[in-house]
Amino acid sequence: MSRTDTFFDALWQHYLTVTPQARGIHQLLAARGETVQNDHVAFRTFDDCPIDMAHLTPVLESLGYRFEQHYDFSAKKLVAGSYACPGQPKIFLSELKRSELSASAQALLGAMVAQIPETTLDPSIFYSGRSWAMPTYQAYSALADESEYAGWLSVWGLRANHFTVDLNALNADPSVQTMNEWIRQAGFSINTAGGEVKGTPADLLEQSSTLADRVSVEFPEGSQEIPSCFYEFARRHPDASGQLYQGFVAANANKIFESTHR
Ligand code: NI
Repeated sequence: MSRTDTFFDALWQHYLTVTPQARGIHQLLAARGETVQNDHVAFRTFDDCPIDMAHLTPVLESLGYRFEQHYDFSAKKLVAGSYACPGQPKIFLSELKRSELSASAQALLGAMVAQIPETTLDPSIFYSGRSWAMPTYQAYSALADESEYAGWLSVWGLRANHFTVDLNALNADPSVQTMNEWIRQAGFSINTAGGEVKGTPADLLEQSSTLADRVSVEFPEGSQEIPSCFYEFARRHPDASGQLYQGFVAANANKIFESTHR
């Protein structure tokens, strides 16, 4: 296996440990004679720390990726970057702007990022999970009340937040609506924030996602069920030059983030 294949394999195995639906979705597609190719994988991180975007970008570059485009999600206090590597899924990396949160949330997050070691990073950082002690359930809840993203990241850390089925690459070439129907019939829940299908053919990118699995997590106060990770589906349309659009659509991503809401 190439270094990049090894990376994606480890990432996938780590994702499965907290995302049982992912195996089910692959089995559902395998039963239809399909082999899944992923459009992209998404990660979340904190700004201004040893694992922020500025520190992670060279690690992606070491795998052959190059930075493509910057995205702004001001209402969610996030920025993001997309990265591409020929023959590999794209990568979408977002980062929480901690300084825009309340003083109390900043204090909680500041204590977490202070625990992140300043070390030379290698690709395994993307499936390392939390680099700080498990927060209390009280702290997790306070963070999530203010920013669902902050709460999620405080527990789960750096890991694949979602993989994304490339619908264009499936033999059946299904619409997003058809994929949603298959998913629903198999008993999975679709994220309905902003409608079941995010984007239109005119946007050149249509997407949908499941709701994150809910898994039991051991907090200092005891175990609680909280949202983990989810799966996404993407259909790309040709642009004016006839090539499939390769970018992202911020309005779609803005609603996809809500797949991990409590
Ligand atoms: Ni995505």
